[in-house]
Order: sequence, then C-alpha cells, then structure tokens
Amino acid sequence: MSGDDLVEVRGTLDGEPYHAEVPVWASLLDALEAAGRPLPAGCRGGQCGSCTVSLDGVPTPACVVPAGAAAGAVVETARRAALPVLVAELAAAGATQCGYCSPGLVVALSHLLSTSPSLDAPAVREALTGHLCRCTGYEAIVTATLAAAARLTS
Ligand code: FES
Ligand code: FES
Repeated sequence: MSGDDLVEVRGTLDGEPYHAEVPVWASLLDALEAAGRPLPAGCRGGQCGSCTVSLDGVPTPACVVPAGAAAGAVVETARRAALPVLVAELAAAGATQCGYCSPGLVVALSHLLSTSPSLDAPAVREALTGHLCRCTGYEAIVTATLAAAARLTS
C-alpha cells in the first residue's frame, strides 16, 4: 500500500448522503472537507474538540476517526444535532464569542442534555472535557447548559 492509495467513504451527513475519496491515512474530518462540508479544525489531533460531530449518536472528534472507519456511519454536525433550547440559552448567556469552539461543544452538550437532562454543574464541566474555549472562561457555557436543562425538565 502506498501513501497515495485512496479510500472511498460514503455515509450520511446531516440527514443527506455524502461521498468522498481521500487518502487511506485521512480522517473523517478530511473526508468531510473533501465532501465540501468543512468543520472548525484547530489541533487536528483530538485535543481541542472543535471538530466534534455526532458519529452514530456519540460525540466524537472527527479528526481522530480514520475516514475508512466512518464508512456507512451516520454523522451529524451541530447543524442537525444541536438542541434549539441549548442554542437559545448559549446566545442569551453570551456564551459564544469568536464561535470557533461552539459547533463542537454544542454537539457534546446537546448529547448530554438528550441523554441525561437532570444535570448539575460538575456534569456539564465533565462533558466539556476536551473542548477548548479561549474566549469565555466556560462559566457562561455551564450556566446556559443548566438553564437549557431546567427548561427541558420543567
Ligand atoms: S481539530 Fe479535532 S479535536 Fe481539535
Ligand atoms: S468562543 Fe472563542 S473559542 Fe470559544
């Protein structure tokens, strides 16, 4: 196998079929870029969380998933995976500044709210592990997520 060998990736992206042909060493992040759907990408090494997508229902940094391993998977970005109540509370709390971290952490926090809506601050902070935000200091994000949880459980 040479470094020029290609792998064909087909799957579902935000409810629509997508297709990409990328080198065998490429990641799901690379495949989505090749398919014309780039994500915010910071570290490209699984450290910042900016490229997090829902992969078959599990929040996952797309940069650490081999593209070939994602063939046939259901991928959702924040465009489809975001809970509207969370997006509204993040906006109300001023929890988005430059916005670079937002799509990834919205995927992670929407999953958290969907699977365990009775939350406390430590649980939110735990879910934010691996999501770097250089702008907000995280408190507004935690506050907004707890407010979204309160609305979902009221
Ligand atoms: S770009 Fe994927 S985790 Fe940083
Ligand atoms: S809002 Fe800028 S990195 Fe989080």
